[in-house]
Amino acid sequence: MYVVLGADGMLGRAWMELLAARGLDARAALYPEVDLTDEASIARAVDGPLTAVVNCAAYTDVDGAEADEATATRVNGDGVGALARRCAALGVPLVHYSTDYVFDGGADAPYPVDHPTDPVNAYGRSKLAGERALVDAGGPHLLIRTSWLYAPWGKNFVRTIASLAASRESLRVVDDQRGRPTSAEHLAELSLALLDHGARGTFHGTDGGECTWFDFASAIAAHVNPSCVVHPCTSDEYPRPATRPSYSVLDLGPTEAAIGPRESWRVHLARVLERL
Ligand SMILES: NC(=O)c1ccc[n+]([C@@H]2O[C@H](COP(=O)([O-])OP(=O)(O)OC[C@H]3O[C@@H](n4cnc5c(N)ncnc54)[C@H](OP(=O)(O)O)[C@@H]3O)[C@@H](O)[C@H]2O)c1
Repeated sequence: MYVVLGADGMLGRAWMELLAARGLDARAALYPEVDLTDEASIARAVDGPLTAVVNCAAYTDVDGAEADEATATRVNGDGVGALARRCAALGVPLVHYSTDYVFDGGADAPYPVDHPTDPVNAYGRSKLAGERALVDAGGPHLLIRTSWLYAPWGKNFVRTIASLAASRESLRVVDDQRGRPTSAEHLAELSLALLDHGARGTFHGTDGGECTWFDFASAIAAHVNPSCVVHPCTSDEYPRPATRPSYSVLDLGPTEAAIGPRESWRVHLARVLERL
């Protein structure tokens, strides 16, 4: 039996569909019945003989965290610590997700898993607190950092740009932040493959290749409405409450050594666009 926290979120839904497709038993743990800030609710959800606990629950409002870092940290830091201690006490492996935003963005080559962390925004700091709490709990865990998640469902960049491109003649998208899009369905498969492989510790999980948000948007618009022109702009021209790292590509070396090469983000994007 797998328990999936945040099972109705973007990644959580991908996990639930994957486990169902593989014929594996799964229990959805949904907010607010299961709240990372409520230890008793965690204990009720994480109980009985379990194969693994998968934590897709998080405070994910990157800009909102700037104004309310305390709440972000309570969920993404302290809450993850409580969950990790519960799993450690039961000896159940915990799969947990962190972010490319734990890095400072100053690199010009993919960040290895052991590169020093130095988040540039409140969300990144809250997720780093969760990474540390998870390791401190001392239980068996798989900590997977990912980036730029999207799916055919939920609120994400691909669905937003696809809908804008369908109705507009032009769009402006930032071209000075470089990273890796990641299909949530691919990430769930990658995670289960790592788990089944016996991988434990910290890994990176993304699609392959790299691009800017402008490149990403251009590929989406070209599929949805080729007559929509995408123009590049700078982050300064599109200010947001939270600073984003300008480079956040994650090195996939250990992940690919364990479970094989990852396909380009373009391949995964094409599969999702077909289904929008
Ligand atoms: N999205 C990205 O681009 C991205 C990038 C890097 C890393 N990540 C990480 O990947 C993981 C999955 O992200 P996602 O985009 O799939 O998230 P998401 O769609 O925002 O889903 C988050 C889930 O967490 C639930 N939740 C919120 N507060 C909670 C609490 N206090 N206790 C329990 N559950 C709570 C939400 O419930 P409600 O919907 O009811 O609020 C929702 O089901 C997260 O760890 C995130 O930090 C995401």
